[in-house]
Amino acid sequence: MKLRVFVTRPIPDAGLNLLRRAKHVLLDIYEHDKMIPRKELLRRVKGSTAILSILTDKIDKQVMDAAGASLKIIANYAVGFDNIDLKEAAKHGIVVTNTPGPEIAESVAEHTIALIFALAHRIAEADRFTRAGKYHGWGPQMLLGTDVIGKTVGIIGTGSIGTGVVNRLYDGFGVKIIYTDLTRHPDIEKRDLAKYCTLPQLLKEADFVSLHVPLLPSTRHLIGTKELKMMKKTAYLVNTSRGPIIDERALITALEKKQIAGAGIDVYEHEPNIPLALRKLPNVILTPHTASATIETRQSMSRRAAENILAFLNGKIPPNAIKQ
Ligand code: DGY
Repeated sequence: MKLRVFVTRPIPDAGLNLLRRAKHVLLDIYEHDKMIPRKELLRRVKGSTAILSILTDKIDKQVMDAAGASLKIIANYAVGFDNIDLKEAAKHGIVVTNTPGPEIAESVAEHTIALIFALAHRIAEADRFTRAGKYHGWGPQMLLGTDVIGKTVGIIGTGSIGTGVVNRLYDGFGVKIIYTDLTRHPDIEKRDLAKYCTLPQLLKEADFVSLHVPLLPSTRHLIGTKELKMMKKTAYLVNTSRGPIIDERALITALEKKQIAGAGIDVYEHEPNIPLALRKLPNVILTPHTASATIETRQSMSRRAAENILAFLNGKIPPNAIKQ
């Protein structure tokens, strides 16, 4: 008997080809390259053994009930899994997997570093300025930024992505790195890559603060008015983790009042909505949740999601099963 695998949006083909080749899989892929409407999701998951979801799908009790007793595994095409109700999945006896790996950590780390340098050198502003025909000749005080060399970078969260940023920055950028996390990071400490400190210490000391924590009840609005006030007036905030880690209203106020120098933001509190007030600010760089958007990484995420499903269907523990 073939087992139904429903994919909620077309993804790069590496994983889809693995699923297509599996004899016992009946593959159904939502046809359109857009977020599947809720009604359609509820209809299409019915009778599926596996759902390959993406981070914009809210996979809750209603979806699990709509799929029915056949649903055994939800393979999320993302490292983050805050779109899935894990408690409900556990109650339904459903395994949940994600797609962590060195490739995604590297892509997001690179994007984070790109944002740090783009902020410091005002790359996006300079691009807008040039395109607008405002460049009328070289000037000694035109679009002055700041060097990254000699500055302190504060990393909040040292999972694979935060550690990826530490590793890259340590090698050749001439910065001091400090970090904070729930526990100290043995490898970082052993190699003396970064100095551990508390969150308030980090906020006070860092010239660039970069967020790399998962979205959990305990990390929602980790950075709010109080924390932003602790940062230096000259400091920049970078977020490539999840939008709700920052209180977005508080960030806009801090930027408008010039309490901090700027921000590089890839993720938003209510995606895909980005407040106009944030979009209007000159001292921010906004990317549309594309930190992991490289061909290599998106193919490898596709492969990992499929491998999780196939391992499960073959009676094995999926390599990226999430503890529930
Ligand atoms: C993730 O994997 O969680 C990113 O946000 C998207 O790749």
